[in-house]
Amino acid sequence: MIAFRNFRVSDAEGVVTLTNECSAADQLDEPTSLAEFQDQMMAPNADFERDLLVAVSQGHLVGFVNVWIEPTRRGILRLRVHPGFRNRGIGTALMGWALEHAGEMDLALVDAPIKARLTGQQAFLGKFGFALERCGWVMRLELSGELPLPLIPAGFNIRNFQDEGDVEALTAITNVAFAEHWGEREYAVDEERYWTSRPWFDPGLVWFVHEARSGQVAGYAWARINEERIKLTGDRAGHIGELGVHPDFRRRGLGRALLLRAVNALKERGMAAAELEVDGGNPNAKRLYESLGFLKKGELRWYRKQMAGHDQAGGTKR
Ligand SMILES: CC(C)(COP(=O)(O)OP(=O)(O)OC[C@H]1O[C@@H](n2cnc3c(N)ncnc32)[C@H](O)[C@@H]1OP(=O)(O)O)[C@@H](O)C(=O)NCCC(=O)NCCS
Repeated sequence: MIAFRNFRVSDAEGVVTLTNECSAADQLDEPTSLAEFQDQMMAPNADFERDLLVAVSQGHLVGFVNVWIEPTRRGILRLRVHPGFRNRGIGTALMGWALEHAGEMDLALVDAPIKARLTGQQAFLGKFGFALERCGWVMRLELSGELPLPLIPAGFNIRNFQDEGDVEALTAITNVAFAEHWGEREYAVDEERYWTSRPWFDPGLVWFVHEARSGQVAGYAWARINEERIKLTGDRAGHIGELGVHPDFRRRGLGRALLLRAVNALKERGMAAAELEVDGGNPNAKRLYESLGFLKKGELRWYRKQMAGHDQAGGTKR
């Protein structure tokens, strides 16, 4: 007998264990930790007791679905069924709840990210009316060789994130740099304040470039070393989470300089590689990454279901 019920805080460990079992079985390469899950659980806009359903068999969590709800009325779906409990209708039941919930929450669309090689799981999404919307690339640079040093163009200065006083600047440059980017939305200062106050946040891995004359922030980069994940995977890869240049300051070498600053810092911190995700429809960024030797490692496909009565929405982060 499988019982379905809403998430409770005491389920957190069960969700993490199941996530990691599925990650190993499906080679998703995305193990998580309790701390990471709790970060998500407490994030602004998150309400897992409302938006996450668990499937339980004999006291064990064997499946869950979460509809992560963005303020733009975009849902992001994460559905996992334990490998030993597949093909018994659990996924179908969880998906049924998720789509009904998305309707009740008046979502305009639901997006589901999935690794390109998981064809069976993509067919499953197709049965529920999801269609391929976008492909993202996962790119990786091995840091064993010589790296060029960043060359900051004349008239610009680079500095690290300093303290809480920089949160507004970070929010502003993020929103302006990513305004036209697929899947992004406008972020609130409180959201950035939350993420920059997590215990893992390292101001030494966030950089701003300023125009010297005006003091204006022209670009930024944000890297992360996720020690918990490194412990789980044994792969000492750091992550370039965000890289953005203000539209008025593009094509002057700032993107390249920020990226080089970030990869050099990851190497100085003992990372063996740098990884990042880039939207497949972002040729400028792909060209920049390839020019520094980043190689495509995998593909993440975004499937989308448009909800009845709606035609548009967008945006997520992290
Ligand atoms: C991608 C981005 C960070 C590049 O910043 P930038 O300061 O303009 O980049 P640079 O001037 O350092 O350019 C470096 C290289 O990138 C490539 N490139 C960047 N913009 C390009 C464009 N508009 N057309 C063609 N190539 C481009 C080129 O290879 C360029 O080298 P070159 O000038 O010697 O030809 C910037 O366009 C941006 O902020 N875009 C929106 C946010 C985004 O997509 N971020 C990346 C998310 S993964």
